[in-house]
Amino acid sequence: MKLPKIIIASCLAFSGYSALAQAPGNAKMDAYIKNLMAKMTLEEKIGQLNLPSIGFDVTGPILSQGVEEKIEKGLVGGVFNTYTPNAVRKLQELAIKKSRLKIPLLFGYDVIHGHRTIFPIPLGLAATWDLPLIEKTAHAAAVESTADGINWVFSPMVDIARDPRWGRVSEGAGEDTWLGSKIAGAMVRGYQGNNLRSDEAVLACVKHFALYGAVESGRDYNVVDMSMRKMTETYLPPYKAAVDAGVATVMSSFNEINGVPAAANHWLLTDLLRKQWGFNGMVATDYTAIMELSNHGVGDSATVAKKALVAGNDMDMVSEYFLDHLKKLVQEKKLDVSYIDLACRRVLESKYKLGLFDDPYRNISQARADKEIMNAQKLQLALEAARKSMVLLKNDNQVLPLKANQKIAFVGPMIKNQRDLIGNWSAAGDPKKAVTLWDALQKQYPNNEFTYAKGCNVLDDPALIGRLNPHDAQIVADPKSPADLIKDAVDVAKDADVVVAFVGEPFGMSGEAASRSDISLPSNQVELLKALRATGKPVVLVLMNGRPLTLQWENDNMAAILETWYGGTKAGDAIADVLFGKYNPSGKLSMTFPRSVGQIPIYYSAKSTGRPIDEKQKYTSKYLDIPNTPLYAFGHGLSYTTFAYGDVTLNKIAIKNNESLTATINVRNTGKYDGEETVQLYIRDMVGSVTRPMKELKGFQKIFLKAGESKDVTFTISGADLKFYDIDMKFTNEPGDYKVFIGTSSDNVKEADFKLL
Ligand code: BGC
Repeated sequence: MKLPKIIIASCLAFSGYSALAQAPGNAKMDAYIKNLMAKMTLEEKIGQLNLPSIGFDVTGPILSQGVEEKIEKGLVGGVFNTYTPNAVRKLQELAIKKSRLKIPLLFGYDVIHGHRTIFPIPLGLAATWDLPLIEKTAHAAAVESTADGINWVFSPMVDIARDPRWGRVSEGAGEDTWLGSKIAGAMVRGYQGNNLRSDEAVLACVKHFALYGAVESGRDYNVVDMSMRKMTETYLPPYKAAVDAGVATVMSSFNEINGVPAAANHWLLTDLLRKQWGFNGMVATDYTAIMELSNHGVGDSATVAKKALVAGNDMDMVSEYFLDHLKKLVQEKKLDVSYIDLACRRVLESKYKLGLFDDPYRNISQARADKEIMNAQKLQLALEAARKSMVLLKNDNQVLPLKANQKIAFVGPMIKNQRDLIGNWSAAGDPKKAVTLWDALQKQYPNNEFTYAKGCNVLDDPALIGRLNPHDAQIVADPKSPADLIKDAVDVAKDADVVVAFVGEPFGMSGEAASRSDISLPSNQVELLKALRATGKPVVLVLMNGRPLTLQWENDNMAAILETWYGGTKAGDAIADVLFGKYNPSGKLSMTFPRSVGQIPIYYSAKSTGRPIDEKQKYTSKYLDIPNTPLYAFGHGLSYTTFAYGDVTLNKIAIKNNESLTATINVRNTGKYDGEETVQLYIRDMVGSVTRPMKELKGFQKIFLKAGESKDVTFTISGADLKFYDIDMKFTNEPGDYKVFIGTSSDNVKEADFKLL
């Protein structure tokens, strides 16, 4: 039979992958799978590509029907949303005892920032800039997940995000390519370890491939249109970093890219991912993404099933279009069976790598779950991660830390709020186990009579409540009127030395399908803050939210602002520790906080225009109504102490391509508290064959300095750090002038010049 062009191309590619699979070390796996596949019917092979949801579903209607019978018939390759040793064992037994070939199932789940012990949301974890810590949280999540029967997590989410209207910025590491890439690698290592057969390792799944963070207007699931340069320089590297770290699986994304939806994008899933990057694991679609291809305008159900498979997806999450259409397509000679073989093989290889053919139950037991889940060690890690994730945005007159002998009024709907602390995508996290700020205060300061007033409801807007409550927001209006709630708060505030106001977005206001056109605090909360401000007492604003917010009024009127994100299971303890100075905050923003939505997209690594801003000249690049600068820049984050930076000294002012230089700066703790600082290194290439960003993060070091102590911090910069995609899209560097910047945030640095010869 004469194959159409596209099929020939893919068959060639197929032989390439087989060669990979036969590399030493893989020969055993290859033989095992070949032997197994020789016994499989076409239907059973297609069955391996089917990934239905069974159990609790958060992101869509439960569409998968009759999953148990399908497992028995060998028509399911893996499931997601089922966990606990018992539930997993029950389903796995169906596959092992009832299906003809006894092929074990994969058990996937959205373990995004912890499984049962919940760590801060990923945007908060990124604010720690602490790669070993992030890796540890991923590993702890893997240990809890495997103890609960899960062997595949749909994480890390590495979508670069520069539009805080998009609710899913909470799930990723923020705006920066370099930092995002490092975090991607750390998370993959944390989940997978160095041996996937270990009882404590899961398959990681990097998502959402690709460019999902660049959806137009920040509206979820929207289209992406982007130049090849921008995607190559900025958006693709974190996925590539995950691949380089050995990520076992990839999830294709919902969005289209330049006219071709990712789930049907052969260039993306085959040419780039597999051929260029050498990825040889498995690709699963996102939830019903194949079915959604018809809405994108790609074709009817049979057409989109074929396109999705041919593009390079191996597993169909929930649509069941592979199950419904592939066999007939083959019978009608519209699809070459080699595509099914290839995808089936990749699914089986994933199972083999986990050791499921040796032990389909992977040592799961209630005893192991009891030992591992939410044990003291994991709770301690959750506390450490939550403390380190918090970012002190402002602290006038050192109003923080609070002193336990002050009269302090705690006000706000988040103070006793348990539900929101663990945030969105909190997997199997139980909000009832989360420590509220109020509980932590009672425990830590049993003799202190802090006063409390709720001050306002989490939200008063009925339309918004109507959208959030069906999805577990649990927003209940207080029996008191909003005016009475505010009056109570003002009464306690008047009587206090300092007021702590804890407000923010309920968890459903960020995450999936939670785009906002206005990213300010809910208006009823702002009313409360205004009333507190009018008392004349200093107000410490504590924020819980999943995205950068616009906080201009708050910045101008609140004495201090502490960003706590959704801090997870131990959030309340961590917030109390930071407020009272038991922990000196050290978090740094990984995403810019704009002054207004009108500035979006706004990010530190911008390029210069031909008419850089000049306030004295009309025809320069600026707004009439606000400054160009953000409210809080990338890398910003204060400490209770102060750090003074010396000048940057270079050991050489010019290097050749194969050489390196060192840039050293002295950092002194000039305040009264011991503290941690994240010293940031940025570089600018002054002239390029294509224009270059005015600053790009290229390194950082975390240092701990006792009060009064100082330290020289040295970075090594080599020719490799100066590489970029030149005018011919070649990854190289170019001789010329460079600037190096070192400092405490992207907008507060010292600089020096050097040359690449
Ligand atoms: C989300 C994914 C998630 C999947 C499975 C989708 O709606 O986009 O991030 O992994 O659901 O729950």
